[in-house]
Amino acid sequence: MAAPAQAIPRHVAIIMDGNGRWAKERGLPRIKGHEQGAQAVRACVEGCGDLRIEYLTLYAFSAENWQRPRAEVMALMRLLERFLKEKTPELLEKNVRLQAIGRLTDLPGACQRQLHKSIEQTAGNNGLTLILALSYGGRLEIIDGIKSLLHEIELGHIDRAMIDVEMFSKHLYTRYYPDPDLLIRTSGEMRISNFLLWQLSYTEMYVTPKLWPDFGKEDLFAAVEEFSQRQRRYGGV
Ligand code: FPP
Repeated sequence: MAAPAQAIPRHVAIIMDGNGRWAKERGLPRIKGHEQGAQAVRACVEGCGDLRIEYLTLYAFSAENWQRPRAEVMALMRLLERFLKEKTPELLEKNVRLQAIGRLTDLPGACQRQLHKSIEQTAGNNGLTLILALSYGGRLEIIDGIKSLLHEIELGHIDRAMIDVEMFSKHLYTRYYPDPDLLIRTSGEMRISNFLLWQLSYTEMYVTPKLWPDFGKEDLFAAVEEFSQRQRRYGGV
């Protein structure tokens, strides 16, 4: 399928679900599903580049994912570190700027160091901005935003009567990015799962039964094609 010609979303956000099921279907350990999921990330980044999408946010590790068995958590952290180390040259080559949102200080030290290194190395790129949501929770983000606003009030920088939607948005992890236009969720689940709760208010949703490791460029193009047929009304008529 060819890339659709018009109404390309500026910002695509993805809940990458189904790695575990993909592995189970093949009698493999769950981490093999995550490894294959990391390959799908590569294809998706390339597809976003082809479509000239400006921002791609990936839900790579939620605040709730720490509750998984320790071995799986550690394997995911090692995979993330390895992915960043191996793929940074490719991000540079493709003009991709890496960013991250979430409680990043929760990540293991080696992972944080590699993340900040990759972010610094790609900071000068002006193609796709790839935002990894890591130890991210939408409710936590809103609470962190409230704390940050209260701090500014205590310092006397702002008055509470000045607080509005725009100002609050500037206190979220996502303050530098536009809200997502399109949210894709794989593996058929009809849930938001604590992802970008504030930012998804008017985002178009696209759910596919495909498991994340099977999600390829063509699937991204199909989602964008469907998005381009949608009429967005933002509560109007
Ligand atoms: C959900 O599948 C996926 C995750 C919790 C992690 C996502 C991680 C990757 C795609 C790989 C690494 C990412 C990067 C950026 C290198 P699941 O385990 O919940 O699947 P299940 O619902 O079938 O069990």
